[in-house]
Amino acid sequence: MPTVAFVSPKGGAGKTTASMLLALGLAEQGHRVAMIDADPNKPLVHWASLPGRPNTISVHAAPFEIDLPDALREANGKRPDWIILDTEGSARVGLSFTAVKPDLVITPLASSALEALQALKMAEIVANAEKKLRRPIKHACLLTRLPAAVRPKSLKSIVEQLRVNNIAILPTGIIEKEAFRMIFALGGDLATLERNGVYGVGQARTIAHTYVNAVKEFMGLAEPPEQAAAPAPANAQTVADRIG
Ligand SMILES: Nc1ncnc2c1ncn2[C@@H]1O[C@H](COP(=O)(O)OP(=O)(O)O)[C@@H](O)[C@H]1O
Ligand SMILES: [Mg+2]
Repeated sequence: MPTVAFVSPKGGAGKTTASMLLALGLAEQGHRVAMIDADPNKPLVHWASLPGRPNTISVHAAPFEIDLPDALREANGKRPDWIILDTEGSARVGLSFTAVKPDLVITPLASSALEALQALKMAEIVANAEKKLRRPIKHACLLTRLPAAVRPKSLKSIVEQLRVNNIAILPTGIIEKEAFRMIFALGGDLATLERNGVYGVGQARTIAHTYVNAVKEFMGLAEPPEQAAAPAPANAQTVADRIG
């Protein structure tokens, strides 16, 4: 069962949003997803308390490190196909996420030049986690909250810095979209947003699907070519498109 942890040394990077989009995208593809909310502010628990949660997504609270084993046990009890851990961003990111034995750690980064430092710090933390677990953990950065239209120079600089330091970056970034914020205000999924007339849900859905497939591909779980989904539509820009 693939397990993905969203971890970054900084709050506000987009972990909770990216973990939610992954869960919603996987659920739309027919997977059962258990999410562990390891943030004392419980943003996913709050989302789950709103109407419209797909019944294939369960949310398990682990507000403190000590709660993680119980939350994991509860999550496993739901017999999920995927486990997704969302963590609290803080300057002192520990190795608590190792409790879920992640196959992949995703570090969301906003597109500002300083963010590459977060990625370097995180790569070190993942290396320590690998030592602790004595098994490899994949690590990839995800560019989030990308400005919709412009191609900022800072984006090119981050991508370069990650490349130089051999840190992987998912080929699809997540742009800044009101629809992604509204999921947490309205609850439910992208279809709920559509019913509520939220602007730009179609594009949000395309981005979410392209991102989910990029995660699967990075984990070596992509479907064989004959079963693979149609190629990404034109409005799902890749990171390479964005930096020109
Ligand atoms: N792609 C996005 N489009 C629009 N708003 C976003 C996006 N990603 C994050 N946000 C907003 O930015 C803020 C921080 O994002 P969040 O996912 O909560 O980050 P973290 O979990 O890393 O603290 C939230 O208000 C969230 O709604
Ligand atoms: Mg969060």
